[in-house]
Amino acid sequence: MALLPIYTAPDPLLKSISKPVEEVNKDIRKLVDDMLETMYAAPGIGLAAIQVGVQKRLLVLDVVGKGREDAAPQPLALINPVITWASDHDAIYEEGCLSVPEHYADVARPAEIEVNYLDVSGSKQTLQADGLLSTCIQHEIDHLDGILFLDHISALKRNMILRKLLKQKKLAS
Ligand code: NI
Repeated sequence: MALLPIYTAPDPLLKSISKPVEEVNKDIRKLVDDMLETMYAAPGIGLAAIQVGVQKRLLVLDVVGKGREDAAPQPLALINPVITWASDHDAIYEEGCLSVPEHYADVARPAEIEVNYLDVSGSKQTLQADGLLSTCIQHEIDHLDGILFLDHISALKRNMILRKLLKQKKLAS
């Protein structure tokens, strides 16, 4: 396993649309393992392939162990995920993102969803999600379409955060 570098906003790569995974093979499973290791090390609760520079429709997450050191990890990998149903009512969570380090904002999204995807063995799966899991899956699927949680908040707040991130990058380079 290996830690992968995480791309941060405003990198143009994060605005690109990821392509479907054509075959769930050992290269994909290696990528999933590396992404999970990178996510846990960050630490984060979700990571999309594009965040580590791979334009594939693939994401990993684990919302179970959040803030609980005694909780056993429950990693989940969703390949080619598609939301097939979303509830009319929304839930609001304060979201963060490993590609938008140290900035957080409230985002409203459908409270419950149903998502179809392939697992790491290439089998079709359906998952019903609510709570933080629902929000996290929607946040990560957004990444596959070049959308950040910043795109769900006011332009004023978005531009303020992007300016700060750009400034940090310039200071670091
Ligand atoms: Ni994110």
